Amino acid sequence: MSISASVLNFDLKKTAVSNRLKGLWRMMSGFRWHYLGATLSLGVAALAKTSTYLLLSYFVDHYFGNGTRPVALPLIALGFVGLAMVEGGFSFLSGRLTAQTAEGITRRLRNYLFDHIQHLTYTYHDKTQTGELIQRCTSDVDAVRRFFADQAIGVGRIILLFTINFVAILNLHPRLGLVSIIAVPFVVVTSAFFFRRVSKAYQAFQEQDAILTTTLQENLSGVRVVKAFARQAFEKEKFERENWEKFLRGKKLTRMHSLFWPASDILCGAQLMVGYIVGALMVIHGEITIGTFLAYLGLVGWIIWPMRNLGRLIVQTSTGMVSFGRVSDIIKQEREPLDEGETLPAADLRGELTFENVGFHYEEGSPVLQEISFHCRPGQAVALLGSTGSGKTTLVNLLPRFYEYTSGRILLDGVELKRYSRRYLRQQIGIVEQEPFLFSRTIKENITYGVGRDVPQAEIEAAAKAAAIHDVILAFPDGYDTLVGEKGVTLSGGQKQRVAIARTLLKNPRILILDDSTSSVDTETEAEIRDALDTLMRNRTTFIIAHRIQSIMNADLILVLDKGRVVQRGVHEELVAQDGIYRQIYEIQTRIEAELEKEITNAS
Ligand code: GTP
Ligand code: MG
Repeated sequence: MSISASVLNFDLKKTAVSNRLKGLWRMMSGFRWHYLGATLSLGVAALAKTSTYLLLSYFVDHYFGNGTRPVALPLIALGFVGLAMVEGGFSFLSGRLTAQTAEGITRRLRNYLFDHIQHLTYTYHDKTQTGELIQRCTSDVDAVRRFFADQAIGVGRIILLFTINFVAILNLHPRLGLVSIIAVPFVVVTSAFFFRRVSKAYQAFQEQDAILTTTLQENLSGVRVVKAFARQAFEKEKFERENWEKFLRGKKLTRMHSLFWPASDILCGAQLMVGYIVGALMVIHGEITIGTFLAYLGLVGWIIWPMRNLGRLIVQTSTGMVSFGRVSDIIKQEREPLDEGETLPAADLRGELTFENVGFHYEEGSPVLQEISFHCRPGQAVALLGSTGSGKTTLVNLLPRFYEYTSGRILLDGVELKRYSRRYLRQQIGIVEQEPFLFSRTIKENITYGVGRDVPQAEIEAAAKAAAIHDVILAFPDGYDTLVGEKGVTLSGGQKQRVAIARTLLKNPRILILDDSTSSVDTETEAEIRDALDTLMRNRTTFIIAHRIQSIMNADLILVLDKGRVVQRGVHEELVAQDGIYRQIYEIQTRIEAELEKEITNAS
């Protein structure tokens, strides 16, 4: 089924309303005509089925009852065949339409979720477990699909079958009609009773399912840690515990279902029985003919079927609604607006930065950065030094607006940072993260990831050379086309960092941030990268976070952070002259290096 672009681009945000049925109805937007078509086809099929029983009644009464035989036998036979064909054809059409429509709605939902999740804020992703998101995007989305494939069309089917057959029976005899619906109120009450209980049981089951998925996902990501600490038994027990809980909740859910079905079956069975007895008595008393009774026997089954399914529908709808609610929770989340703000032409950005009393906290009440003030001119290099957890990464993460500072202000070229759009900032700022992530693609694709266009090989190689990774790449059998990750080569920590540096350099950003980017490379390679970076850092504002004084001593401004505050500032010479953390670190590092050198000279 081809779906037009406008239908695919329907903003599913509109479905995240508190009334879930309303949300589901909106989710059908663009597909309602398909459902109407499917329902009409069902109607035609139902009419054909009902007509079959009426034809049967006519046939029996005229051929065996009074023997008048007004229509030739072959014509009646043709009638039966024709009706069967109409019924089969339209049932098929309706089933096909519904299945395709449900797939279409689900496809749109999946695409939307994927895109939406990518646009959610850092804060949301910090707080949300990956396994939980995966479970909602798979298991819950599938329950929503089932709703659209079965339950959404089920309402139409039930109403149609019930009405058509009820009217047909009423026509046969009014009393038969009334007798055949006495169980309806009871079925509705029983279903409503189970609806809430199944909802709750299913919600609990899905929540536990999400926990299990998270456990599995976390274990797979951290399998090396598990092995390194030989904690397999502990992890196994943890998994078994969660799995047992899922089993218990699943059992409860099944028990709800298994109580519901017999209850509704007893009701429907009783209904059928009463109908048969009343009908048989009416034949005996000559109130209806045998043919009428036969037709009734067939038709009444098609009243019971919708009644029984009404219960099933109500109960199953509850699971669809619970899953839809879980998916809605994601859709409801506000996206991080990428394009809000002013966009300056790239050439205009000079890269002058001013921090004025900037403060930031992740959680209210526990400040991570406090009263940070400094100024750096375009093209200068700012170094951040400080113990672990002092707020260095947090500080640089404010620049691309991954997080918004909570007090003070940051000016970029004299304009407050909040006025620039996030997209623009992220285009202008290149960040080599502390723990870079590479995709399971080729090295070349990883390096060109940030530019999104075809890049001449020479440019890629220049970036790789600057990051001191070119020779390493050439040593791989497939060179730049070597696959990284699970299906390809496993890069060492230092190699990964250098590919990430190349990726950022290729982007040619105005502002470059290196967050501890040489922590996993040896001193020699670091010096090599530093030399290459020296040329690259010219004309661009650079932030360097490093633990080795060697890496930052040439910076134009060094900020020493402690517990989120700047405790020392200046250039290297000034700082070593001061009594403080900087000199302590410097002395320890030079002493260690001197001792090492001595040992090496002694050894050779
Ligand atoms: P190293 O990289 O280890 O050298 O530390 P850092 O100076 O880069 O510290 P970072 O900025 O990462 O963290 C500063 C403080 O913020 C620490 O106390 C962290 O526990 C805290 N923190 C970091 N990220 C988050 C987060 O996403 N949420 C919350 N609530 N706290 C965070
Ligand atoms: Mg850090």
